[in-house]
Amino acid sequence: MDRWEGTKIAAGIGLACAVMGGAGWFSARVMAPDYPKARGYAVAGIPPVDLASVQRDWPVGGSKMEQAELIGYIHEIDKAVVPVSTEPEVAREAPVDLGTLLASADPEKGRRTAQVCMACHDLSQNGPNRIGPNLWGVVGRPVGSHPGFAYSPALKGVGGQWTYQELDHFLTSPGRAVPGTKMTFSGIRNPRERAQVIAFLASNGASKPPFPAPQPAATEAPPATKIAAAP
Ligand code: HEC
Repeated sequence: MDRWEGTKIAAGIGLACAVMGGAGWFSARVMAPDYPKARGYAVAGIPPVDLASVQRDWPVGGSKMEQAELIGYIHEIDKAVVPVSTEPEVAREAPVDLGTLLASADPEKGRRTAQVCMACHDLSQNGPNRIGPNLWGVVGRPVGSHPGFAYSPALKGVGGQWTYQELDHFLTSPGRAVPGTKMTFSGIRNPRERAQVIAFLASNGASKPPFPAPQPAATEAPPATKIAAAP
């Protein structure tokens, strides 16, 4: 290929581009397309979606790391099926205190329920942080303290340690117990099941803090309700 051949090819490509561009410009004059100003397909009675609000609800922002986390989260959450409760509902009639529930809680049942936690948490010793922090030895651990995990400011602000009572409160409804937490899990409403999971968490650590003492069973007229009772 002599040196002119290259120049000719370049000139040919340049000319082709110029012709296409010119033709586009010319036809736009001739056809004068008139694009609608509003979005199409308005359906009567249905308000348009506020896209800004949809984006505001999106759980995490745009960095590469968070995108990967989000994709992992979506995959995991597909697998996270909350098991159907087989435990009798105890919350309604007589509230049983946590100490009593823990004393009779079966950690093995708790382990099964905690499968749903494992979608986001690793529970092994020296295990990694995942979507949520590693939960080895979480009972008695300072809240929001696992190294290397980026906690939400909300959880960081809680302070103190994960006592049995705090865990019970948190796991009932994380979003209500700690508004603004990153733990997007609706909670375990059944107190017996919750106690089982907490008993399992307690067994999953180097040292197991002693369970709170069971309260004596409520008599017919417990003093607490006497005070609260209407005359
Ligand atoms: C959808 C994912 C997800 C599921 C499912 C989930 N968690 Fe979490 N969890 C998180 C995230 C994220 C955090 C960090 C919260 C924050 O920083 O606000 C967290 C935090 C926690 C903490 C606080 C840990 C610390 O170091 O302070 C505990 C305890 C906990 N989860 C227990 C559980 C248990 C028990 C279950 C199952 C019943 C569960 N989680 C299910 C994502 C999840």
